[in-house]
Amino acid sequence: MITASNLELRAGSRILLADTTLRIQQGDRIGLVGRNGAGKTTTLKVLAGEGEPYTGEVRHGSDLGYLPQDPREGDLSVSAKDRVLSARGLDVLVRDMEKAQTAMSELVDDAARDKAINRYGRLEERFSSLGGYAAESEAARICANLGLADRILAQPMGTLSGGQRRRVELARILFAASEAGAGGKSDTILLLDEPTNHLDADSITWLRGFLKSHEGGLVVISHDVELLGEVVNKVWFLDATRGELDHYNMSWQRYLDARATDEKRRRRERANAEKKASALHQQAAKLGAKATKAVAAKNMARRADQMLADLDDTRQADRVAKIKFPAPASCGKTPLTAEGLSKSYGSLEIFTGVDLAIDRGSKVVVLGLNGAGKTTLLRLLGGMEPADTGSVVPGHGLRLGYYAQEHETLDHDATVWENIRHLSPDTGAQELRNLLGSFLFTGEQLEQPTGTLSGGEKTRLALASLVSSAANVLLLDEPTNNLDPASREQVLDALRSFDGAVVLVTHDPGAVEALEPERVILLPDGTEDHWSADYLDLVQLA
Ligand SMILES: Nc1ncnc2c1ncn2[C@@H]1O[C@H](COP(=O)(O)OP(=O)(O)OP(=O)(O)O)[C@@H](O)[C@H]1O
Ligand SMILES: [Mg+2]
Repeated sequence: MITASNLELRAGSRILLADTTLRIQQGDRIGLVGRNGAGKTTTLKVLAGEGEPYTGEVRHGSDLGYLPQDPREGDLSVSAKDRVLSARGLDVLVRDMEKAQTAMSELVDDAARDKAINRYGRLEERFSSLGGYAAESEAARICANLGLADRILAQPMGTLSGGQRRRVELARILFAASEAGAGGKSDTILLLDEPTNHLDADSITWLRGFLKSHEGGLVVISHDVELLGEVVNKVWFLDATRGELDHYNMSWQRYLDARATDEKRRRRERANAEKKASALHQQAAKLGAKATKAVAAKNMARRADQMLADLDDTRQADRVAKIKFPAPASCGKTPLTAEGLSKSYGSLEIFTGVDLAIDRGSKVVVLGLNGAGKTTLLRLLGGMEPADTGSVVPGHGLRLGYYAQEHETLDHDATVWENIRHLSPDTGAQELRNLLGSFLFTGEQLEQPTGTLSGGEKTRLALASLVSSAANVLLLDEPTNNLDPASREQVLDALRSFDGAVVLVTHDPGAVEALEPERVILLPDGTEDHWSADYLDLVQLA
């Protein structure tokens, strides 16, 4: 059980959550939802004991497994497999066994070899009495289900992509939680922040099944409505403008119905309040004409203003970023060409001999399984890293805009304002301020260090920086990740109306439909084909 009492959470001077009590018990499967920046990640971090609340206390009565939204740094030299096994303290044993094994086969001195054999025997006995063999195969099963191939598990964490690292962390947590406790079931509480980011469709389906049958307690933050629909039996809705968290002890579908009813009631109340306020104002104006009633009139007007101000608060919660992409600068017929691109990491060949020509205004989708090199191809095209062979040839008038999945185009130590300033030095300050405003960055938030932005806010800022660039070729790597449904719709609209060329990598079929691509490039072969609806099934698998 986790209990949090008298909780208050703040972001800078803003109150995210005030005077709240939260409890997570066995059998709870809670979906934590709310708009981007509402404070979901902050709440989960505090529940996990990794963040300090402004006030209040968090108590832990059982083990927990916490998956943060951003991959944690940690020791990057350990292998992915050891990282997973370390969840049950098996990594050291396995490593010692391997060492003893090597010694057994390599030592020539009889006495020393006998010692190694004895040592191996002792370690092996401990390993098997701890259920090591079963555990090892269970870990392998979980990893396979999360799309982590053996070859990846052998690599040191430092060589893995952000997405792969995150999958290893998820595997580690699920491995720890799948350990049967005394009563035959695990009582580990899982706290998962957007666990489906970076997962392919098969892994997501498997994860849903795993979470559905997890009995130890679970809080999951997710924008994946299918996952919520299948897994959760309670919903926590975080409303940062009110600083409150609403509890719904019901399934996702019943919650959606309840919210729709609530929304209707709120709209009615809003209309009522507006009517009352305007009546009060009229009254006040009449009263104000008489000198003796001036004070009463003033009070009345103040009450009306207060009523409307309360309304503004709720309105702000409903605000949605107006995301649009730039008006593209003019360019030649084929602004971007690539010839014979190859890339390997060490002995691992990602792709070879990829040719590509991006015509003005053309829309291209890049498909390929996890690890086929989609992000790598975009990075080569964007000049973020050099190709091993081949070249990227800019055409006449090319202006590239690159949206990176891991937001590496943003300087995390600089403020929001400094970032946008730096990325568009030629645009006037007022224009930039307007632009940021339409992407919902105003006031204090302009001075916030970019590293402290929420996942969805970082996505929004990176997209904003594209707009001022007048790019005529956009390279977009998973531009809808992390976004709440309303903001995602905005990105889809922006995609629909953009006149320039787009090269898109995504798992989101909605994004592909919005783009209406003419062509598809299949990795790792680099084969090009006309787009047809048949490819849509591949998008989610990719
Ligand atoms: N040091 C800070 N100063 C000011 N504001 C901060 C700071 N750190 C975080 N914030 C703000 O706190 C708010 C809550 O962030 P949090 O990451 O909890 O949101 P979230 O609900 O998880 O959003 P998302 O859906 O985008 O992941 C955000 O608006 C963020 O910008
Ligand atoms: Mg978050």
